[in-house]
Amino acid sequence: MRPYWEQRHRAVHGLRAVANLDRSEAENAKEYEVARARLAALIRQDFEAAAALSVLDVGFGQGHDAEVLQRLGVQDYTGLDFASPRPSGFPPGYRFLRQDIAAADLEVEGGFSLVLLLDVAFHVVDDDAFARMVANVRRHATDRIYVTGLFRDLPLAPHVRHRPLSAFAELGTPIDLQPWRDTHLLRIKV
Ligand SMILES: C[S@@+](CC[C@H](N)C(=O)[O-])C[C@H]1O[C@@H](n2cnc3c(N)ncnc32)[C@H](O)[C@@H]1O
Repeated sequence: MRPYWEQRHRAVHGLRAVANLDRSEAENAKEYEVARARLAALIRQDFEAAAALSVLDVGFGQGHDAEVLQRLGVQDYTGLDFASPRPSGFPPGYRFLRQDIAAADLEVEGGFSLVLLLDVAFHVVDDDAFARMVANVRRHATDRIYVTGLFRDLPLAPHVRHRPLSAFAELGTPIDLQPWRDTHLLRIKV
């Protein structure tokens, strides 16, 4: 899937590179604004002090979720993306690494109190890669994991495969499903 994303990041401009290709820039922007507000509200609900969080943001894309975290006061941020160019304008505690979350030899150290898999888990279509992704996330998550998707078995396109809730069972205990864009956000307690 990496070549697909490298090509898409190169060829598509604006939000459509990471959001919905079938929507206009304005439609995507509107949806992102709503989703960003939802993400901020959930983090405030789950954590007393955002400044104390360490966050792993898998598939950081253009850094829109990193912006939310920066506004909340998060200082310790690690973003992973195997294809997206590094976004600019973030403070020194924000690291952006070019890595595949499904790699057998993932080079990430330490634990993260919040791991974000926002619109990325359903892009890991291969079963073995998916299992490696789950193992990698489990190894580095210490408190909460947020995953978005449709949570039913649904291969939609060569680069999209939604999976049922049971596919995420190894990550921890599900808390609830929250509204996201046209999908849901699953909150997990590790
Ligand atoms: C649909 S975009 C979502 C980006 C961002 N999370 C957001 O919500 O705007 C998916 C991103 O995940 C990245 N990605 C897909 N599979 C990945 C993998 N196995 N490891 C790391 N990054 C991946 C892509 O390059 C792309 O930037």
